[in-house]
Amino acid sequence: MKHILVANAKGGSGKTTLATNLAGYLASQQQQVILADLDRQQSATQWLKRRPKDAPKIFAANTDHTVQWKVTDSPAGLRDEKLADAVKEADLVIVPIQPSAFDIGAAGDFLEVLIAEKTIRKHKTFVGLVGSRVNSRTHAALGLAEFMTETGLPVLAYLRNSQVYTTAAEQGLSIFDMRPSLVAQDIEQWSVLLDWINENTTHHT
Ligand SMILES: Nc1ncnc2c1ncn2[C@@H]1O[C@H](COP(=O)(O)OP(=O)(O)O)[C@@H](O)[C@H]1O
Ligand SMILES: [Mg+2]
Repeated sequence: MKHILVANAKGGSGKTTLATNLAGYLASQQQQVILADLDRQQSATQWLKRRPKDAPKIFAANTDHTVQWKVTDSPAGLRDEKLADAVKEADLVIVPIQPSAFDIGAAGDFLEVLIAEKTIRKHKTFVGLVGSRVNSRTHAALGLAEFMTETGLPVLAYLRNSQVYTTAAEQGLSIFDMRPSLVAQDIEQWSVLLDWINENTTHHT
């Protein structure tokens, strides 16, 4: 099983949106996937409960089904042992960051702690960044791009601020479950991220 952790100590950075859509993508590819939820607010769990019966199946953490993937959503304020434990279990960590000075400042502090984790230092766990709710050609978007580039970590996507994410969330859906004409532009923005996940979870000889 490949395990993807979505984490950023800052609340509202886009973790649950990223985790639920990623689980939805994997399910849409006929993959068996668990969506685990470490957040006491249980937003991902509630989303899963809203998921229509006819949408590609996503399993909750308590399933005894054998799965290929586990996507873990995590709470704001994740740190210390809880962060260490979550990272240790993960093959990949994806950190969504919003384009604002506050979010960038907080992300800097979080990434410093994150990359000091043992499995990341030893290259057993890989970290990638995602710009969240980014409207291109804004001053804030440029600031975020500059910050992410300077970290030296892979920048995997810029997801635009889009009503489709809010609509999908309400319905227990991911953008990958929606009418293609509605989400074409958004799905396009996921392509590098999805390739990176594939490359870093497939063993090459
Ligand atoms: N790309 C996006 N476009 C529009 N709204 C978004 C986007 N990403 C997140 N949101 C909204 O922003 C808010 C915070 O996102 P959320 O994923 O809940 O963050 P976190 O889990 O880090 O607290 C939610 O209301 C969510 O619907
Ligand atoms: Mg959340």
